[in-house]
Amino acid sequence: MTIDMKATERTRARYQRIAPIYDRMEMLAEGGFQPWREHLWSLVKGPTVLEVGAGTGKNMPYYPDGTKVTAIDLTPGMVERARQRAAELDADVDVRLGDAQDLDFPDNSFDDVVATFVFCSVPDPVLGLQELGRVVKPGGQVLLLEHVRSANSLLGLLMDVANPLVMRMMGANINRRTVENVERSGLYLERVEDMGMGGLVKLIVASKTTQPA
Ligand SMILES: C[S@@+](CC[C@H](N)C(=O)[O-])C[C@H]1O[C@@H](n2cnc3c(N)ncnc32)[C@H](O)[C@@H]1O
Repeated sequence: MTIDMKATERTRARYQRIAPIYDRMEMLAEGGFQPWREHLWSLVKGPTVLEVGAGTGKNMPYYPDGTKVTAIDLTPGMVERARQRAAELDADVDVRLGDAQDLDFPDNSFDDVVATFVFCSVPDPVLGLQELGRVVKPGGQVLLLEHVRSANSLLGLLMDVANPLVMRMMGANINRRTVENVERSGLYLERVEDMGMGGLVKLIVASKTTQPA
């Protein structure tokens, strides 16, 4: 599969614009996100962890002790802010620029791969999820926290209609079918938890189909 470079550049440009105000934009919602982040990170075993689409580093306070985290993001402005946060928190994390659709790591590199609110934005989500599956070790976990298209047909339709506008303003698609995308990527779906907002936010746990011998 090939990467749509124009779509990827558009995504990067949108988040580059948003990066300086991202934390303020999300300030009110973040109170609701915190218990979800805490729950996801309580499932991380490590020791080697890749965080994809780390943004401004909002997950850093939850990184479990004893893990070695590498955090990547597509957008230079986000990487800069994440590095500042890492320094403020004295977090042992290697923050780098990178694209989920073309990860710069060998196969089977990490015990856990995490992404929170990222696969709404990755231009080709199935390609990105395949990459997560490539770099996670057999027996390791892919853990995602994602908002998804509503299963309610009317609300789903409204989300489809509103999506182009929201996408232009915020950089995120509100109508992604991320659970289905995980299955399409060839990852094995271990479990899906409804986290809230009437089933709109899911915790997804997946693994490589090839289990260790
Ligand atoms: C909505 S923000 C979420 C940030 C963070 N994970 C959080 O929970 O606050 C989405 C992030 O995904 C990043 N992103 C979008 N497409 C990406 C890609 N193809 N590879 C890596 N990061 C990507 C954006 O730059 C942005 O920082």
